[in-house]
Amino acid sequence: DASDIEKGTYPHYMLKEIDEQPLVMRKIIQSYQDEQGALTIDQEIIQAMNNADRIYIIAAGTSYHAGLVGKQFIEKMTKIPVEVHISSEFGYNMPLLSEKPLFIFISQSGETADSRAVLVNIKEMGYKAITMTNVPGSTLSREADYTLLLHAGPEIAVASTKAYTAQLAVLAILAAVTAKNRGIELRLDLSRELGIIANAMEVLCDEKEEFETIARGFLSVTRNAFFIGRGLDFYVGLEGALKLKEISYIQAEGFAGGELKHGTIALIEEGTPVIALATQESVNLNLRSNVQEVAARGANTCIISMKGLEVEGDTFVIPAVHELLTPLVSVIPLQLISYYAALHRDCDVDKPRNLAKSVTVE
Ligand code: G6P
Repeated sequence: DASDIEKGTYPHYMLKEIDEQPLVMRKIIQSYQDEQGALTIDQEIIQAMNNADRIYIIAAGTSYHAGLVGKQFIEKMTKIPVEVHISSEFGYNMPLLSEKPLFIFISQSGETADSRAVLVNIKEMGYKAITMTNVPGSTLSREADYTLLLHAGPEIAVASTKAYTAQLAVLAILAAVTAKNRGIELRLDLSRELGIIANAMEVLCDEKEEFETIARGFLSVTRNAFFIGRGLDFYVGLEGALKLKEISYIQAEGFAGGELKHGTIALIEEGTPVIALATQESVNLNLRSNVQEVAARGANTCIISMKGLEVEGDTFVIPAVHELLTPLVSVIPLQLISYYAALHRDCDVDKPRNLAKSVTVE
């Protein structure tokens, strides 16, 4: 059938979609460039960003994890405060709003009912909303004031991969263009950095056997797994844990390195897999001591570090990219490790049990 043709030579949509990420990056750069090659976003959207005293990001699942990273991009570049909320929670427990809030709904499908319920509500209250989605004409896109498209192409696998990195890229562009408009001098040339990221993604996608080996060694017989990181790496760890549980059914948890001692370390036993991310220079030493703490208690550690921050014995070193943008790259090993873990455990990678690609009921 048609879906078989679309999958081409790939055994699963998920693997195909992981591989498409460098291409999606280049597509996004192109789509958000003006004739002079400068990154650009609809003036009305930038105006709405500038008028806001606080931004509220509303999303679910992987899109929520993208929002957590997006908050860092927007706050660091534009200096506008950002809150990130899970749609369903926001729905029945609305926080106090600022005087001039602006809402950003992040939704791959544009159909998530929990997010839509919030959108309907805040529109009734008279507030403005941007929907960041992969699907033009989707419900959330139609009902919001503005739309930012992800340009990731159809995402078929239930576990989201290329939509996540597309969300991060578009959030970074939104942040950078807004900052420029506010007269804030950024010390990064984002379109150049995104190009570097596309190349780094390609390098990782060419190293699949490495991740298959890691997955086989670390995850083929385990009941649980932990992801640790600090700063941006913490948020990527949350997404790594979600990917792993969604498709391999391994009980996985992502947490901040500093929180280890406040609970999770009690779960570390001989052979417990702990995947650590080390892409942030300012917390690299602290993260390294977390790794030693779990290793001393018998954990089986897998360390994914960024070039320049690596230590002898690290499991995998990813190419260096701008420190604020590492999530776009560091997530790829986690996507691939999850994919191969699921494969080794004979799971239905593209259609995991109990999950739906878009959840249109609250
Ligand atoms: C479902 C999917 C997840 C997705 C979430 C949010 O739970 O299984 O992969 O992250 O919905 O979907 P959205 O389309 O709003 O990004």
